[in-house]
Amino acid sequence: MKNIVVLISGRGSNFVSIAEAARRENWAAEGIEISCVISNRPGAAGLERAREMGIAAEVVDHKLYETRERFEDALMEIIDRHNPAVIVLAGFMRVLTDHFVSRYPGKILNIHPALLPLFKGLDTHARAIAAGVRVHGCTVHFVSPELDSGAIIGQAVVPVLPSDDPDTLAHRGLRLEHVLYPRAVHSVANGTVRLIDGRAVMDDLTALSLTLMDNHA
Ligand code: GAR
Repeated sequence: MKNIVVLISGRGSNFVSIAEAARRENWAAEGIEISCVISNRPGAAGLERAREMGIAAEVVDHKLYETRERFEDALMEIIDRHNPAVIVLAGFMRVLTDHFVSRYPGKILNIHPALLPLFKGLDTHARAIAAGVRVHGCTVHFVSPELDSGAIIGQAVVPVLPSDDPDTLAHRGLRLEHVLYPRAVHSVANGTVRLIDGRAVMDDLTALSLTLMDNHA
């Protein structure tokens, strides 16, 4: 079995989009399944969605640990029980240190709401509007110890309109996150995309399927 463990902090809409794609596309026939969702926030809405879908849901509350490393130890203890092929960060809002990242080389994915390497960090939509860029979007990448800097797997591009505020722009981007992230997770889980020498390696057709452009706001 190729297990997927998903880490969330809140709403969990990306997690749901991946879980729904897994069902719709019958990833189980390839031996791929989401075996667990873990949240660092006890009240995360995504936990309830996981339980409704029959997926194990766990909490590792970062506030209960004195250091990032001890928090990560607790996470790793649960994660290792699932021996995952892929660890998916889906709106997971804790920075992970090398202590965690180096344990799962080539297995951790993140989605960031900007076209990396632009706008690393927080408040990406407001910063994109303030910068006056015409396009924005999201990026799925392998996680490396440096924040929002790992090898890029796929990107989705949306227009930035003069009437946009951070919320409307975030909403437009999120619709494409829900298309891009399931594809990227599936491609890494089935070995179509791999991290080799710090680059995401894939064939041209896969790369095209992981490059989305939405010109219709
Ligand atoms: C998504 O827009 C994701 O790109 C972003 O948080 C949101 C989570 O939504 N991630 C980050 O900002 C990571 N630094 P969700 O909980 O509904 O999936």
